[in-house]
Order: sequence, then structure tokens, then C-alpha cells
Amino acid sequence: MKMKKAVSSLLIASALIFSVSTAFAASGSSLFNSEGCIACHTINGEGGSVGPDLSHVGSKRSLSWLKTQIADPDSHFAAGSTVNINGKSYMAIMPAHKHMPASELNALANYLETLK
Ligand code: HEC
Repeated sequence: MKMKKAVSSLLIASALIFSVSTAFAASGSSLFNSEGCIACHTINGEGGSVGPDLSHVGSKRSLSWLKTQIADPDSHFAAGSTVNINGKSYMAIMPAHKHMPASELNALANYLETLK
């Protein structure tokens, strides 16, 4: 009896964790549209090409790197310089999002980090 209870609490807990992490990723992907990232970046075939394709960005960049890139891209790529990312040249013109609320910055960076 005790065992059964433990198993069902475990199931409920994992279902909760699953839905929380899904919701997290969903709000990050909607921010990607609402913050205008999609105008310059493509994910899975949809979006612009002024900046690099982000479909697999989570396999090469860490969460903290992604947060810094969103808030302060200049600290990675000097504004106006030519940068080479994934074998293509880009002019570093990504706007800084310094005033994005921490919760949104986290959601957006977490979403990008899931793109493997
Ligand atoms: C005006 C076009 C533009 C907009 C809008 C823009 N970016 Fe960028 N992004 C770029 C360019 C160009 C680069 C190349 C480096 C740079 O400019 O800092 C870049 C680089 C990146 C990188 C690094 C990619 C890699 O492969 O290392 C990430 C991640 C990124 N942008 C995410 C975002 C997110 C998230 C948003 C929305 C909050 C956004 N960008 C908005 C143009 C843009």
C-alpha cells in the first residue's frame, strides 16, 4: 500500500515537472516572435536571415552565454564588426535587450537552449 502511494506521487510529480517545463519552453518561443527575434533569425525553417539560423543553437551555446547574447550582444561581438558564425559572415548588428525582465530573459534563453 505504501509503495503504491509512493509510486503514484512520483507519477504526479513527474507529470507536473513535464508540464512546467513545456510551459516554460512555450513562453520562450512566443517571446521569440513577440520580441522580434524572428525578423532576423530562422528557427526550423521559419524567420529572417539577417542573423544566424538558431535551429541548433542550444547544442553549441550555454544558457549563460545565450542570456548574455540577448541582453548585451556587444560583449560577444563588437557592434558593426564582421563575424563568422556557422560558416557564414554577418554584420554584428543585433540590438541589445538590456531592459528585458529577468523572467522573460530566462524563458527566452531556456527555450533557445532546448534547440539541439
Ligand atoms: C536586427 C536583427 C536581429 C534581431 C532583431 C535579433 N538578432 Fe540575434 N543576431 C543578429 C546578428 C546579426 C547576430 C550575429 C552577432 C551579433 O550581431 O551580435 C546575432 C546573433 C545571435 C545569437 C548567436 C547565434 C550563434 O549561433 O552563436 C543568438 C543566440 C541570437 N542572436 C539571439 C537573438 C534573440 C533571442 C533575439 C530576440 C530577443 C535576437 N537575436 C534579435 C541579428 C539580430
